[in-house]
Amino acid sequence: MIYDFDTPIARRYSGSIKFDRHPELDPFWVADMDFASAPAILEALHRRVDHGVFGYAQPHDGLNEAIFCYLRDRRGASVPLEHIIHLGGLVPALSLAARAFCMPGEAVMTCSPVYPPFLGVHHDAHVDLLTVDHVLTNNGWSFDWQAMERAVTPVTRVFLLCNPQNPLGRVFPRAEIERLAAFCEAHDLVLVSDEIHCDLVFDETATPHVSGLDLADHFARRTITLLSPSKTWNIAGLGFAYAVIPDETLRRKFAAARGHTLTEINALAYYAAEAAYRHGEPWRQALITYLQQNRDTLVEFIRTRCPGLSVMPGDATYLAWIDARAMAVDNPAAHFKKNAGLFLSDGASFGWPDHIRFNFGCPRARMLEGLEKMARAL
Ligand SMILES: Cc1ncc(COP(=O)(O)O)c(C=O)c1O
Repeated sequence: MIYDFDTPIARRYSGSIKFDRHPELDPFWVADMDFASAPAILEALHRRVDHGVFGYAQPHDGLNEAIFCYLRDRRGASVPLEHIIHLGGLVPALSLAARAFCMPGEAVMTCSPVYPPFLGVHHDAHVDLLTVDHVLTNNGWSFDWQAMERAVTPVTRVFLLCNPQNPLGRVFPRAEIERLAAFCEAHDLVLVSDEIHCDLVFDETATPHVSGLDLADHFARRTITLLSPSKTWNIAGLGFAYAVIPDETLRRKFAAARGHTLTEINALAYYAAEAAYRHGEPWRQALITYLQQNRDTLVEFIRTRCPGLSVMPGDATYLAWIDARAMAVDNPAAHFKKNAGLFLSDGASFGWPDHIRFNFGCPRARMLEGLEKMARAL
């Protein structure tokens, strides 16, 4: 089947954060795509809507089975149902982890630049945040192990990992994930692995994604793996994610931290997730091919047309992390807002000012229009 990623779909005034927060700007910021979701998901949603009753929902057998098969076939893990905790999103899971495993005065740790909530959930738990910058090596973005050893303290309890990394687009190799797990073991940290972008890896042979689910048992005991079909199949607005927690004590503490703060997950989200995992693979494959071409086009455009900007091709995701230090302006995102009418993500919110994040999950023609506006404003 041929899927159409080129025909634009009007999103303005559809209640979209991306388009309607600043309708006067051309948005390439928040991480959702301008594509309709996979036809199989739309059909499943139509069927569920036609049922007409939307009382409180729980994960139905079809969803449980779809998740089990996805984890077995795509991630090579045999995960018992009781290891899974369903959630309305991954961000609440990051916050729950901080609240479940830290006491006031203790700390969570992460590496930046990183998706902004990683730098904010410690406030929910009234704990400290320790950040260490990622470093660029000959093999791509990596961890600064020495700086991490210097930064970690005896009261650090949780490490928040983003893999594939948003915004760097990095898929960390097995050796690095295992070294990180060993770091967590040595310092007695709970490893929280946010893998929301794991089905958006461009070349799974060259850069296979190593999940928290792939770790040896002694590491798995301290690991929480967070997953969702939401980014890949563009259903983030439906709100569905899940945590896989093999260790019972960890799972109990994590679940208890929910208290009464989280609502039930919505009835439609469960059915969309089931359809994504059960029937979404052909669409996903076509999407990856399209996004990879967008990535290559963007990288080439920035290299040839945008003096002052530089970008590394990411291994995954539809997000490009653009280094704008050579522009020598106070705030590159504000510059492009003022001079190009573009809404880009400001690197400062990821912990690295003087960078911008450009979302290329859109029809290629629209991406090129945005890039042209950027080039003109340089
Ligand atoms: C790394 C990462 N984690 C979590 C989220 C958001 O997750 P959710 O919408 O399920 O809370 C995003 C969205 O961009 C993300 O990039």
